[in-house]
Amino acid sequence: MALYAMGDFHLSFQAEKPMDVFGETWKNHSKKIEKNCKKVLHEDDTLVIAGDHSWGRNLKESEKDLAFIEALPGKKVLLRGNHDMFWEAKKTGWLNELYRDRLFFLQNNYYPYGEYALTGTKGYCYEWKESEEHFFKIRDREAERLRVSLNAAVADGYKKLIIFLHYPPTTIGEMESPFTRMAQEYGVSKVIYAHSHGKDRFGDSFQGMVDGIEYKLVSADFLKFRPERIL
Ligand SMILES: [Fe+2]
Ligand SMILES: [Fe+2]
Repeated sequence: MALYAMGDFHLSFQAEKPMDVFGETWKNHSKKIEKNCKKVLHEDDTLVIAGDHSWGRNLKESEKDLAFIEALPGKKVLLRGNHDMFWEAKKTGWLNELYRDRLFFLQNNYYPYGEYALTGTKGYCYEWKESEEHFFKIRDREAERLRVSLNAAVADGYKKLIIFLHYPPTTIGEMESPFTRMAQEYGVSKVIYAHSHGKDRFGDSFQGMVDGIEYKLVSADFLKFRPERIL
């Protein structure tokens, strides 16, 4: 039994969105994901997929992408990415009902993994695309969702916690954020995140040990489309 993570599958089995326009590494990327997942993962393993699953604009347009994920080996836990239009924030419970025992959608809840609780939310960082006011509003809402997730795990007696985010935990240049402070406050051992694509963005946030917490980037192109072992 092992825990793996990878983010940013960016699948488009239905939506018109060929990913090779984003560079050579994205050519036939779904084939690479499938091959590497089948090589690395066993049925008793768990894979956390850290957001940006599908280019579909709604659930109907994302069904084949989710079916692809469902067919990968092991248990699959999904985070909400900025591109996941199929996943309305308020419908997480409904998605969990719909995909019960097939996929788990992580938001305002947690996923038990042995003595660990896998907690998380989409997260947020500033990318100079919006007003600061709007940024703070989204970021604070995401921080609140993370707290709900952590509190649910703690209330059930979990002491070993891991945080998964889609966005990097800090904005470029920041040394801390509500997400890193919460990781400290709850004594989590690892913060795993994705979203950063291309060599120029891989260093946007923390990697390695910072104040006793291990930070790991698991975007698919950073990992060369091979799941990263977390535990
Ligand atoms: Fe992405
Ligand atoms: Fe993203």
